[in-house]
Amino acid sequence: MEVIISNTYEELSKAAAAMVAKTLNAKPNAVLGLATGSTPLGLYKELIRMHKEEGLDFSHVTTFNLDEYVGLKPNHPQSYRYFMQENLFDHINIAPQNTHLPSATTDDHEMFCESYERMIDECGGIDLQVLGIGSDGHIGFNEPTSSLSSRTRIKTLTRQTIKDNSRFFEAGENVPTYAITMGVGTILEAKKVILLASGEGKASVIADAIEGPVTSMCTASVLQFHERAIYYLDTAAASKLKMRDYFEWIQANLPSGPA
Ligand code: PGA
Repeated sequence: MEVIISNTYEELSKAAAAMVAKTLNAKPNAVLGLATGSTPLGLYKELIRMHKEEGLDFSHVTTFNLDEYVGLKPNHPQSYRYFMQENLFDHINIAPQNTHLPSATTDDHEMFCESYERMIDECGGIDLQVLGIGSDGHIGFNEPTSSLSSRTRIKTLTRQTIKDNSRFFEAGENVPTYAITMGVGTILEAKKVILLASGEGKASVIADAIEGPVTSMCTASVLQFHERAIYYLDTAAASKLKMRDYFEWIQANLPSGPA
């Protein structure tokens, strides 16, 4: 596991964007796994800038999003399809048919979830998966006690996640109780995983995920088993890491020279 600590949110977003760009430059038809939430917004903003100013090309890229709320139509402003269109897809040259999110409106969840997994496989698997982390340690919507081998499925959100996410909804509007999410096992199969976290509010859960035991009580902790997982943190999110000095020492003394 690699831990890269930046001074600011902007810096961590740019570092993560550079990793996405490196992946696309090496493999123009890469398959990206994408996340929603407030944390990846800076990354998407930087990717849009790189597309517009530096010609970063998405024309052969395929994407699969981690999750989607059950019941929200694609044009609902809080649906993750809407989020992705607004914050990334509408501003880059990605082919609409290459962008995939779990269906919020299917009435056969089991069949849909199996087909989502199959589509990922048929595209050759995910080359680079972008993740945020919930205050309860979730990746995707894999809430505490999710099986660490789970696959794409319908999941009941915790009260804490519903509360955390209510800030995005209008007053009085209900946050959906269910989501379809890639499983922990699905995420672990991505060839490379980058997890972004910013702010003091994430410091405890980041310390648990990186330095605590691997446990389904903090599903992000399973990334300790991933061969190529990189955490992009700002100093606030890194502030409770016991090994912080070591992580900074590693970055200053990379065998290939300073990062
Ligand atoms: P956030 O959400 O980026 O809005 O903090 C992260 C998550 O719940 O995965």
